[in-house]
Amino acid sequence: MDILVGLQWGDEGKGKFIDHICNQYDIIARFNGGANAGHSIYYNEQKVTLKLLPSGVFYPNTMNVIGTGVVVNPIQLKQEVEQLMALDATLALPQRLLLSAKAHLVLPTYAYFDQFYESHPDYRTIGTTKNGIAPAYAAKILRQNLRVGDVYSTRFSSELQAILQRQYRELEQLQCDLPPLNEMEAAFLDGVAFLKTLLVTDTELYVNQALHEGKKVLAEGAQATMLDIDHGTYPYVTSSSTVAGGACTGLGVSPKKVGAIFGVTKAYTTRVGEGIFPTELAGAEAEQLRLKGGEFGSNTKRPRRVGWLDLPALKYACMVNGVTQLIVTKGDILSDREEVPICTHYEVEGKRQAYFSANQEEKTSQAVYQLFQGWTGDFTQIKAESQVPSAYRAYLNFIAQAVGVPVTYLSTGPKREEIIELKAN
Ligand code: GDP
Ligand code: IMO
Ligand code: MG
Repeated sequence: MDILVGLQWGDEGKGKFIDHICNQYDIIARFNGGANAGHSIYYNEQKVTLKLLPSGVFYPNTMNVIGTGVVVNPIQLKQEVEQLMALDATLALPQRLLLSAKAHLVLPTYAYFDQFYESHPDYRTIGTTKNGIAPAYAAKILRQNLRVGDVYSTRFSSELQAILQRQYRELEQLQCDLPPLNEMEAAFLDGVAFLKTLLVTDTELYVNQALHEGKKVLAEGAQATMLDIDHGTYPYVTSSSTVAGGACTGLGVSPKKVGAIFGVTKAYTTRVGEGIFPTELAGAEAEQLRLKGGEFGSNTKRPRRVGWLDLPALKYACMVNGVTQLIVTKGDILSDREEVPICTHYEVEGKRQAYFSANQEEKTSQAVYQLFQGWTGDFTQIKAESQVPSAYRAYLNFIAQAVGVPVTYLSTGPKREEIIELKAN
């Protein structure tokens, strides 16, 4: 099993890269997160953003697995599958999608709790996607949640009602603006009825059996390393295990079965939501990069915070994941600049610090940059390694050397064909 993870704060271009290598795999399996993800893929010249669905949906011979580590909102699942079927019914998606019976459900009350925590002054504002992701994982850890496979149980209806009624009362006490409970429940049950038409199974068994038969599986990470619940910039993180290790727990596959670990990074950095961002840009420079890069959330449409590449953070991410191949995206967005900075280390209270620390604090740590010669040229014309501008090649070589991982693919634009493989590493 190969694994693909994001190395920054998300939106590195994971979906686009998976779409490119998809035909090398029999199965694409999501292992974490939920509909907080937004993975953009161009299909028939149209941009499609996948939230809950794995990025193998556009390849008719690829099976798609929503694994145990994912949290599933049946309403959002139905919407997404129906949208895709409306786009191209020949994709026969329902026949190529498997859901883990052990994946947890996102109940309709969770988004309201998420919104409440985000807006109430007594709680931290994280800048979540307000999809109810944290309440879903919290309920899972508290052992008070319902799972996808529970929908077949004779107790499902009564258990669901008990949870919803209790939580609805809690939300009322918190003075949340709510639709009537019966409406909330009806919409959810409509999603559940749809979910029941899909293939719900023991995906651990399915994936391990496939590996045993020599089939190729790619574990698709959502979010990214710096948003990992354990290894990210807590508390400004998501609530799942986004790193390579999370692929093993999230899919029920042994670490012994892992092959390549692809890590995707932008040539610069973006972040949505709150939290430390040592190389963040401000003012007109940020605005320019945001506009040129189209840096607005695929999921929530929020403007993304932008900044330069943070090498200590990237090194940290490569270490935590054991990345074997780097994929660099969006170098085209940095073209036509005279110089491009890379943060090589930080200065903390006058001292050099070359690693991304758990206690990294914006107040005390200052990013220190090395300037690289800029590059020009139309990246859409790059069809071969020899056509990569030499200054960009030098920029990439520096990154690869610094993190000790080869850059094996270079994304040159958002479209499916706008990517090249690099051989000379
Ligand atoms: P993901 O969440 O990691 O799959 O990334 P998103 O899809 O949220 O965000 C990446 C954005 O960059 C999308 O709009 C992609 O279409 C776009 N994109 C990906 N690679 C490139 C690239 O090399 N150049 C440009 N200009 N855009 C890219
Ligand atoms: P992809 O897979 C970028 C961020 C949110 C917020 C924090 C917690 O497209 O890279 P949550 O709703 O998960 O509780 O929010 O995590 N976040 C993402 N940022 N890309 C994502 O997914 C993200 N998923 C969550 O903005 O800061
Ligand atoms: Mg995204």
